[in-house]
Amino acid sequence: MTLRRGIEEVLREHYVNFRELVAHEPEEAKPLLQIQKLRRPVFADAVTTSDLSSGEMKAVSVDGASVLIAAVRGEMYAFRNGCALDGLPLEGGRLTDTVIVCPWHNCAYDARSGKRVDHPEEPGLAVVPVSVQNDKVRVAVNVA
Ligand code: FES
Repeated sequence: MTLRRGIEEVLREHYVNFRELVAHEPEEAKPLLQIQKLRRPVFADAVTTSDLSSGEMKAVSVDGASVLIAAVRGEMYAFRNGCALDGLPLEGGRLTDTVIVCPWHNCAYDARSGKRVDHPEEPGLAVVPVSVQNDKVRVAVNVA
């Protein structure tokens, strides 16, 4: 109360129309992130690095999900094995350097990001997180 009175006296001296100092309690803090929506990735074995040479791709089944693994310039990338256009499987398509071309209607995707390269405004492929440990290529299908 002493602090409040001191502040009020100073304000009255400098502001003729000042009447009263009213304190408000802060609103309840809201969490910055919706942590409950985040899931920790659980990785499962998909292929070995020797199964794919750079420039090759392969569809595999991991925990009941079909995943397309692509070896691009010495790195491994993975996507849900379904074209963003119609959901049809991508195996049988072409991998040309960094571009995956769907075998059905020729949609083209960046093999590193899954984004459409022929129509960038259209949805891309669902990216599946990849982990390479020793020669094992592991994918996390529970978060994709
Ligand atoms: S299903 Fe892929 S382009 Fe049509």
